[in-house]
Amino acid sequence: MKSKHRTYRDVFSLVTISLFILCLSIQSICIVLYTLFSINLFIKITMSIFLFELSITLGISLLWFVKNEGTKGIKYALKHFSLEYRVRRYLFDAGFYILRESILGEIAELPKIDISFENNLTFGKIKINNNVKFDKKFETLRLSSALERYVVEIQYLSLDQNWYIFEFYDSNLMRQRVFNSYVEFQNYNKKIGKYELFIDDYSILPIHHALIVGQTGSGKTYALFSLVLQLVNKGSTVSLYFADTKGAGTKVIGKFISPDKTASEIEDIIQLLEKFCECMEKTKQEIELHLMNDIDSDYRDFNISPNIFIFDEFADFILVLKAYDKKTRDHVQSLLSRITLQGRQMGYFLWVSMQKSDSTLLPTFIRENLPVKIVMGNAENMTYVTTFGTGVDIPKRNYQLGQGVYTYPQIAAFPKICSFSYFNFNIMEAIRNAGIVNTGVNTGVPEKEVIQNGTNKD
Ligand SMILES: Nc1ncnc2c1ncn2[C@@H]1O[C@H](COP(=O)(O)OP(=O)(O)O)[C@@H](O)[C@H]1O
Ligand SMILES: [Mg+2]
Repeated sequence: MKSKHRTYRDVFSLVTISLFILCLSIQSICIVLYTLFSINLFIKITMSIFLFELSITLGISLLWFVKNEGTKGIKYALKHFSLEYRVRRYLFDAGFYILRESILGEIAELPKIDISFENNLTFGKIKINNNVKFDKKFETLRLSSALERYVVEIQYLSLDQNWYIFEFYDSNLMRQRVFNSYVEFQNYNKKIGKYELFIDDYSILPIHHALIVGQTGSGKTYALFSLVLQLVNKGSTVSLYFADTKGAGTKVIGKFISPDKTASEIEDIIQLLEKFCECMEKTKQEIELHLMNDIDSDYRDFNISPNIFIFDEFADFILVLKAYDKKTRDHVQSLLSRITLQGRQMGYFLWVSMQKSDSTLLPTFIRENLPVKIVMGNAENMTYVTTFGTGVDIPKRNYQLGQGVYTYPQIAAFPKICSFSYFNFNIMEAIRNAGIVNTGVNTGVPEKEVIQNGTNKD
């Protein structure tokens, strides 16, 4: 039911309009009197009232300009105004106001609203002042319906608990990049930093340990491919290790990119992990002296290339490993822990993809040390909980191929939408034709062998 109460702003508008009507009426009377009696005083009164109207109009315009941050452009100000109007109306209709007594009767006081836009009006934040009366109700507020084409991505309480913050984005925004050829993809890569990887234009992260979760067919392997291809394109001699017990796409691409560092049998995977840790140990010894001088430095400061161990369908590996003796299982756990705990500084990273990240499949302490967490596609609530932890809100939408949500400390503390590029070309064929050896990946085998290997496997 719509409220009959008025807000302070309604009262202000009403008073201003009444004042203008009064001024115009006096002016009309003065003009009539002047035409009848030709007394100059009437013209003077008309002019004075006009000046009064003008200063009021200018004053209100200036107020509007400042309030809607007109210095950022008229488009910004108009958008700011219309969005604030909509949010105010929504809050009012939903009863988010406090009634205050005044000489004009009961006036509805809406909470303070602060709106800001970023990135050419494609992203923004709405801050609504928290109030003890609405505190819990704000949590369930579905603001998106009030925001025209904008959609709320995450909503949370500010650290001081004084504001409810709603981060929104333009739903017309095409997050997902479509690459029609490998060359197009390579060209785009030039924009991304040496030690960074992109998911989409708005989600660019430093290279780090990563966990990718999602049902079969949600695009996990392609997400890994997208990251692998970026590394391959960086031109430095990255070292990529591939473990894929299913022996599917990842193994094929691994055999092509680094045949001596690709495994699908349990024993081979364990050996590969050992090799990875040995290399990490060597790097550690090499840079240890430098690290002692500057404990905040890491592999990037010494121009060391990243080394990544890619585990596609990690749960399969763990399930098979369960049949092995405890010593072997403990050994694997200790190798994985070493990588996740020590790898960052040395530039040794673990990327894990799996359908569900339950603690029975991925030990909690390893999961907690994988800072980049991504859930691909539409997942069950339990999957979000086991990946991101309890009490997180997932932006509601129908996630398409390559789309999902991610968290990364500092950049996305709460799950944010992301969209891996869509590859409209055959990845294997493209790499083969482009000649992966030109990219500088340290495959450890002669050029000819690499290309033949890829051809044979495909
Ligand atoms: N980013 C993408 N670009 C093009 N096709 C994709 C993309 N992601 C997924 N696909 C298609 O969906 C299929 C399943 O994706 P895949 O990565 O194998 O899923 P998962 O590893 O989660 O089972 C792929 O074989 C591919 O045809
Ligand atoms: Mg897969």
